[in-house]
Amino acid sequence: MKEMIAKILKKALKELDIKLREEEIEKFIEIPKSYELGDYSFPCFFLSEKLKQEPKEIALNLRKAIGTPPSYFEDVQTSGAYVNFFINKKMFAKNLIQEILRKKEDFGKIGFGKGKTIVVEFSSPNIAKPFGVGHLRSTIIGNSIANICEFEGFNVKRIDYLGDWGTQFGRLILGYSKFGDQAKLEKTPIKHLYEVYIKANKKEYEEESRKYFQQLESKEEKIFTLWKAFRELSLKEFKKIYKLFGIKFDVYEGEAEQTRKASDVIKKLKQKGILKKSRGALIVNLKKYGLGIVLIQKSDGTTLYATRDLAAAIKRYNRYKFKKMIYEVGQEQKLYFKQLFKILELMGYEWAKNCIHVEHGLYLGKNKKKFSTRKGDIVFFENIFKKTLSLAKREIKERFPKIPEKELEKRAIKISLAAIFYGDLKNKRTNNIVFDIKRFVSFEGNTGPYLLYSYARASSISKKINPENKKFRFNIDKLEPQEIELVKKLSQFPEVVLSAYIGLNPATIANYSYQLSQIFNEFYHACPVIGSKEEVFRIALVEAFRQVLKNSLALLGIKTIEEM
Ligand code: ARG
Repeated sequence: MKEMIAKILKKALKELDIKLREEEIEKFIEIPKSYELGDYSFPCFFLSEKLKQEPKEIALNLRKAIGTPPSYFEDVQTSGAYVNFFINKKMFAKNLIQEILRKKEDFGKIGFGKGKTIVVEFSSPNIAKPFGVGHLRSTIIGNSIANICEFEGFNVKRIDYLGDWGTQFGRLILGYSKFGDQAKLEKTPIKHLYEVYIKANKKEYEEESRKYFQQLESKEEKIFTLWKAFRELSLKEFKKIYKLFGIKFDVYEGEAEQTRKASDVIKKLKQKGILKKSRGALIVNLKKYGLGIVLIQKSDGTTLYATRDLAAAIKRYNRYKFKKMIYEVGQEQKLYFKQLFKILELMGYEWAKNCIHVEHGLYLGKNKKKFSTRKGDIVFFENIFKKTLSLAKREIKERFPKIPEKELEKRAIKISLAAIFYGDLKNKRTNNIVFDIKRFVSFEGNTGPYLLYSYARASSISKKINPENKKFRFNIDKLEPQEIELVKKLSQFPEVVLSAYIGLNPATIANYSYQLSQIFNEFYHACPVIGSKEEVFRIALVEAFRQVLKNSLALLGIKTIEEM
């Protein structure tokens, strides 16, 4: 709509001898606070200096230059320094609804990403450790960002970068050789590995652990085989979670495989003269940039987290020639990523400026403290999900006491996932958020289940429709205020996706979904659909709502259900 107005204004402004591009004009267009002032307005203050006229006078001249507006507008008026546009709401509603029903899952796409590649690295859990809530945030947010990029036409590469290397694996192997049990490993691999790791994580084992890691880095066969088994077993468990979430990765990478290229990285750093020796170790000094010192190689010759990340970034660029590479990782690593990108820049990689750390805040417990159990260890996704599932089942059973067990399970899973995903995504990602399962699962308020419920409510209308009326040949006789609101909200979806992309912030879409559902529910209470005089139009409006909410939730990684 704004584009259309900008087009009209461009022509009229030209007559006043002002040359502006449509995009520039669009930036000035506002949405007035009150209905009487139209649907869009264009303030003329900024032209005053150039034209040496009162803004009020400019508005009048501009109005004259516009002449008779196209039929899309009911009227164009001035009010003080503003030119106000009143759109023909019936025509607008009809066109929009038809567009939504025609474009279906493509409605909202602007498609500016065509022909460009974006790498999105997210989730990236550490092997031999349970999938905790920290990685849950990265998984949920990263997935949504990848969805948004894909929706806009980018060629998206989703990468899971497993934490599968580092001195802690010396400890793990020591722990397993001392306390391990093959049977337990096969039955509950991650749990068992985590147990033996905790046992081995003691000062007295430090020296021995370090040796194990050295043996691992030199790929000593027995040790390496053991590590490979741990990695495979862990990945298998992680993949179960991704499958539950409906998330797919293009590549499962890991830190381990980067060690092969570590010597290339070191060579290049030397060439560029940025590598320094310091007590037998190799470092890059970034103090000049206020970024401290980064360790690249330990004195015992082993690689570090940063070394491996440098190798991975270079390899990814060579492979994908990405326009952008996004790392969705917690904000604890903010400084680290600044260091990483700085080193890439100093190495002469132009594309370093296109690497972005998309950070997120912490999950907090209800006491507003860092989310952890009483004993202080990490909170496992598995336990959280069990709890959410049982809460969701209770809610469903209250509404459908006779629901078959299988259907109950299926619905409860979708509701639980919606609760967890939305509970996270409705917040600005950089905020810390209180992880309150009970509130997340509630069917009322600003929650995932409430959104699913609104969708299901629309679906229940849809089911009652006479198929003859599903052809959506309608005319609009009269629009109720709730209908106007709903149409307006639906029309905003493409801009909302665009702004979520610009801010790399799925919360924009989450909040939109909630507002859209609220407006739909107001419409639902005020305007009867089936059997009303406006039935065919209202059915089409309900169908358009279902489509847009579905598209919007899909970008968040949330699947709708027909019945709640
Ligand atoms: N596995 C790491 C962790 O759990 C996160 C990896 C982030 N990605 C990266 N390229 N460094 O802390």
